[in-house]
Amino acid sequence: MTNKMRVYDKGKNGKHRKKSKKNIRPAKPKVKTKDKKEVGGGSQDDKTSNKNVKGGDKIPELKELERDVLKYIIGQDDQVRQIITSIYRTLVFPSIKSNILIIGNSGTGKTATIKQIAQMLGLPCTIEDATKYTQEGYYGADVTDMVFNLIENADNDIARAWNGIIVIDEIDKKANSGDQHDVAGVEVLKSLLKIIEGTTVMVPPPDYMGDLIPFDTHNLVIIFMGAFPGLERIRDLRLNKNSMGFARTEIKQGGSTKYIKQDLVKYGLPEEFVGRIDTIVEMNNLGYQELVQILKQSKLSIFRRYQVELKRLGLTLEYDDELFAEIAKASLVVDTGARELSNTVNHVFEKIIYEVLSNPEKYKKCRLLPGIVQDNSKFELT
Ligand SMILES: Nc1ncnc2c1ncn2[C@@H]1O[C@H](COP(=O)(O)OP(=O)(O)OP(=O)(O)O)[C@@H](O)[C@H]1O
Ligand SMILES: [Mg+2]
Repeated sequence: MTNKMRVYDKGKNGKHRKKSKKNIRPAKPKVKTKDKKEVGGGSQDDKTSNKNVKGGDKIPELKELERDVLKYIIGQDDQVRQIITSIYRTLVFPSIKSNILIIGNSGTGKTATIKQIAQMLGLPCTIEDATKYTQEGYYGADVTDMVFNLIENADNDIARAWNGIIVIDEIDKKANSGDQHDVAGVEVLKSLLKIIEGTTVMVPPPDYMGDLIPFDTHNLVIIFMGAFPGLERIRDLRLNKNSMGFARTEIKQGGSTKYIKQDLVKYGLPEEFVGRIDTIVEMNNLGYQELVQILKQSKLSIFRRYQVELKRLGLTLEYDDELFAEIAKASLVVDTGARELSNTVNHVFEKIIYEVLSNPEKYKKCRLLPGIVQDNSKFELT
């Protein structure tokens, strides 16, 4: 599953359709004043520290940002630190280019983490699906479209877009590691090189009228994501482990247990592509404890969201703590990490919300009874 923060579509003739009437032509880069800089507010050549975000707000201190992100993202503390450090460096030193690869199974928080960080830093972000992209010159989306989407998500403020984040999801599907993969995938990865390296791409103005606009990608944060099924096996082979994870007799001493670039090349990513990745992040798989913690503590907890919703409708919610264990266990049956929590919790509240919304102001209290995870009619409204 991939998310796209904002989608723009193409018209029948392949031309891009205008989506909104507002300020179509991108704004001129904001002029920076002497003592107040904004991220993306200076010239693209500005190599100095640039510690403000959209609207002139100071960007939070690194530790403060980390603490805040961890209120949302559970079980990925090291990973969050790795990602924010990498992104933060590009804000402090705009000349540093940041290309990150996030490897992780479905529902481990890859997309959620980036969305959260982008939001907290006020950086525009676009999430692109690599499978939609084709080789340059072929019909289909290309690199220019990514930049275009980013500019659109920056409300057509090109200066803001300079410091934006482009996420390219499902990148593993473009690797050359078997028949099921896109045969031209490697060529697509190669055509992405220019944007990863940092270059000037000519993007059409958002209204597709008038001259192309040069857009410098040097300050962009590029984040690749994917589940990379089978990559673990490649690492295990390198470490001389058998498929159960046990080391064979001749253990290779000193081999990194983290993924290394060589593993990615073996997987089928072109060497020149892998060579340009500076940070490889491996997300943890989320287990029972983490799912319970997400439900109870995360600001992304869908359970908490229902609790707030019911409170707004004038109801208090009562339940035994055991409920979280039941929701987590039921969600773990499906192998999609925290993603499944929302299905389980939606099911729990489905009939309750229907009943409460059908009878406004009738109820003051909702009690969830044991067994509600299996049978969502097990509740009391009074
Ligand atoms: N580590 C986490 N902490 C808190 N919530 C999480 C975490 N991981 C996932 N979630 C919840 O699950 C939902 C789906 O997660 P997310 O979209 O980040 O998955 P993903 O890793 O990108 O997986 P996919 O490969 O399926 O896109 C999120 O919106 C969030 O509510
Ligand atoms: Mg995702």
